[in-house]
Amino acid sequence: MYPSSEIYGGLGGIYDYGHLGTLLKHNFENLWRSYFLSLSENFYEIESSLIMPENVFKASGHLENFIDPIVKCSKCGHIERADHLVERTTKTRVAELTPGELTLEIKKHNLVCPLCKSAFEPVTVFNMMFPVQIGVGKQTRAFLRPETAQGPYVNFKTQYELQRKKLPLGLALIGRAYRNEISPRHFTLRQREFTQAELQIFFDPDTIAEHPRFEEIKNIKIRVLLLEDRKDDTVKERTAQELTKLLPKYYIYHLVKIQEFYLEHLKIPPEKFRLYQLSDKEKAFYNKYHFDVEVELNELGFTEVGGLHYRTDHDLAGHQKISGESMEIVHEEKKLTPHVLELSFGVDRNVYALIDNNYENDTQRGNIVLHLPPKLAPLPAAVFPLVKNKPELVEKTKEVYTALKKALPLTFYDDQGSVGRRYARIDEIGIPIAVTVDFDTLNDNAVTLRDRET
Ligand code: GLY
Repeated sequence: MYPSSEIYGGLGGIYDYGHLGTLLKHNFENLWRSYFLSLSENFYEIESSLIMPENVFKASGHLENFIDPIVKCSKCGHIERADHLVERTTKTRVAELTPGELTLEIKKHNLVCPLCKSAFEPVTVFNMMFPVQIGVGKQTRAFLRPETAQGPYVNFKTQYELQRKKLPLGLALIGRAYRNEISPRHFTLRQREFTQAELQIFFDPDTIAEHPRFEEIKNIKIRVLLLEDRKDDTVKERTAQELTKLLPKYYIYHLVKIQEFYLEHLKIPPEKFRLYQLSDKEKAFYNKYHFDVEVELNELGFTEVGGLHYRTDHDLAGHQKISGESMEIVHEEKKLTPHVLELSFGVDRNVYALIDNNYENDTQRGNIVLHLPPKLAPLPAAVFPLVKNKPELVEKTKEVYTALKKALPLTFYDDQGSVGRRYARIDEIGIPIAVTVDFDTLNDNAVTLRDRET
């Protein structure tokens, strides 16, 4: 991963992926797809446009509420995210503070412009969406979507009818989203153009207190950091059943499924995973219940990589009002506007977290090892001849390579340098298994398998 358009100096917060990065990203997306789409037989994947008309965001509330607090230097005009400026100094989360309160914090801590040391003007707000003008002459005002979620919402009525009118209906979408971040930072963790993987589940709000499979998960311990535990800043595990005092079963079921995805499929160590409850002031403007999915990163600590959002009928009701199209359906002889549970993930953030968690400078081996789970590894296997200056060995190796490629098309062949150097090279890019063809192979048709982990 590296800055996009780098030969022109790049653009802040916009990155490209090379071959291995792209493969890793696709492997994450494919794992996400197969896991979350199989949570129900009525979940489907769709694709929708990145450019959406202004009214979509009037309806969703993004036009009014998708804002960040900013401060401008009174002398040189330098602009900073006000909350980040205060957080850097006070080392506390201040997401819940209003612009007025942030202005007071900046005064209280005597924060000045980092460039010219002059005072800041009062905190104001900035809308993070990228506007797009469509056509010439009388132009239509539109925006690049700031979240994939609005695609499934505007498609809901059509998809509900095409998918034979059943609830709950899940519409998943993996695609780009755009946010004009004031201070993009930490490499691909906060970008202006990024990929989201989101699943929108449309359901009858009268069924939120139940989930048909709750019994199966009721004793599972969930790694939550609840608001009441914030002062200790430590996860206190609670069973799904215990959480019913606080949250509806439909919501809890999906907390468990998200945890299972991280611990069992992405193989994030449990102590590096938590579900972080947000307060009323911290929650996104469209949410009733909001937990961030967090993974602990080296140097940065626990970092948001996703979220479980109960968006109620906020979006469908908004679209009904602004578009004039009814979002009501008749479900089991009852008229209702479905509510939405959103499972939202930043793909780039998850890729970053996977690299961060699996990267080891192994001093014993003398090389870097990327311990990615095999399903995520960019390349599945490597095939080597022990030495390359013996034509019969190389020929046999090519035979093994060709056979293996039929099952694993991205199998990697290498005969450069020593075999030790080749092992090191594949460790660094996380290839889980190496197949080495040696002189014995010519007699017994057996190869040596080398497992990256052992
Ligand atoms: N769709 C939710 C989010 O972008 O965070």
